[in-house]
Amino acid sequence: MERTDRIFPDKYIDLHLHLDGAVTSDIAKRLADMQGIALPADGEALEKLLSVGDDCKDLNEFLDCFELPLKLLQTTEALNECAYLVAEKMREQGVIYAEIRFAPQLHCEKGLTQRNAVDAVIRGLSRSTIKTGLILCCMRGEGIEEKNLETAELAEEYLGKGVNALDLAGAEGLFPTENFAELFAKIRKSGVPFTIHAGEADGAESVRKALEFGASRIGHGVRIKEDPELVSLIAKRGIPLEMCPNSNRLTRAVEDMKDYPFMDYLACGIKVTINTDDPAIESTDIAEEFRYMESRFGLTAEQQRQVLLNSADAAFADDDVKKWLKEQIAPGVNEK
Ligand code: HPA
Ligand code: ZN
Repeated sequence: MERTDRIFPDKYIDLHLHLDGAVTSDIAKRLADMQGIALPADGEALEKLLSVGDDCKDLNEFLDCFELPLKLLQTTEALNECAYLVAEKMREQGVIYAEIRFAPQLHCEKGLTQRNAVDAVIRGLSRSTIKTGLILCCMRGEGIEEKNLETAELAEEYLGKGVNALDLAGAEGLFPTENFAELFAKIRKSGVPFTIHAGEADGAESVRKALEFGASRIGHGVRIKEDPELVSLIAKRGIPLEMCPNSNRLTRAVEDMKDYPFMDYLACGIKVTINTDDPAIESTDIAEEFRYMESRFGLTAEQQRQVLLNSADAAFADDDVKKWLKEQIAPGVNEK
C-alpha cells in the first residue's frame, strides 16, 4: 500500500489489529526464511493466499486466510520477529500508538505454551519504536474453555507488565456471545478490562450481551443499528466502537456499504474509532482506512480528528499516554 502524503491526519492510532492478520507477503517470507519453511507459493499466488478479494462471502471465509500466517507463527523467534516487524511497518505508515491483539492458544501447535507465546510477543513489541499495547484474545469455539481460562489468567498476571486487555475473537455467527457468560464472569472479577468482537457477524443482541458481561469497548458493533435503543445506550455510556471499514466491507457485516452506519453513529455522539483489523488480509493500512472513509462517506478533516481523539480516549492505556496521544492529534487540546 502506497502512502500518499497528507496534511492531516499524518499521525494515526490503531486500536484493533490482529497480529496474524498483519502478515504481509514480505513478513511471511522473512518468517519462512528464518525457520527454513518452504512457502506454498510466491509472488501474486502468495498474495492471494494471504488476502481475500472483493468476492469474499462472509466472516467465515475471511477467517480461513489465517491458516498460513498461523503455520508461520509457532515458535518464540517467529512471534517475536513478527510482532516487531508489524509494529515497525505501522510506524512507517504514521501510526504513533497501536494496540495489537493475538490469541496465544493458536500458537501452541509445536510445543509452545501460551505463556511462551505471550512472552515472545511482548519482547518483539518492546523492540519497536512506537508505543504499543497488547490485547490477548480468547477464542469463540467449543471445547476450548480451559484454553480461554488460561488466556484470561495470563492477562491478569501480565496486566500492566506488557498486557493491556482481553478480547473475544473468532466466528461470532457460529458461536454466539451468550455462550461465554461463565468466562466473562471470571474475567470481570479479575479486573482485566476487555473488548469483545460483537455486532459483526451477529446482531445487536450479541452487543447487548457483551455490555452485560462488562465489555468497556466493542470490536466492530456495526449491527447495533438494528436496535435504536442500544444505539442510544452506547452513545450515552460512551462505549467506544472499534470499527474497521474495509474488514466490515469484506466480511459483509453490512450487505451494501451504502448502508454502512459509521457516519450515523458519529452524528449521534458514539465514540467511533477507525482501525484496520487484519491489514494483510484486507490489503489495507490505517491511512487507507481514513482515505476510504473520506472518499466514500465524506468524512471531513475535523471529523477525522474527532475519530482519532476518540481512539486516544478509548485506548487501554494510562492517562499519561492518553494525554500525550491527544496532544499529538490536536495540539493544545489538553489545555482546553
Ligand atoms: N472477527 C472475529 N475474529 C477475527 C476477526 C474479526 O473480524 N479478525 C481476526 N479474527
Ligand atoms: Zn478483529
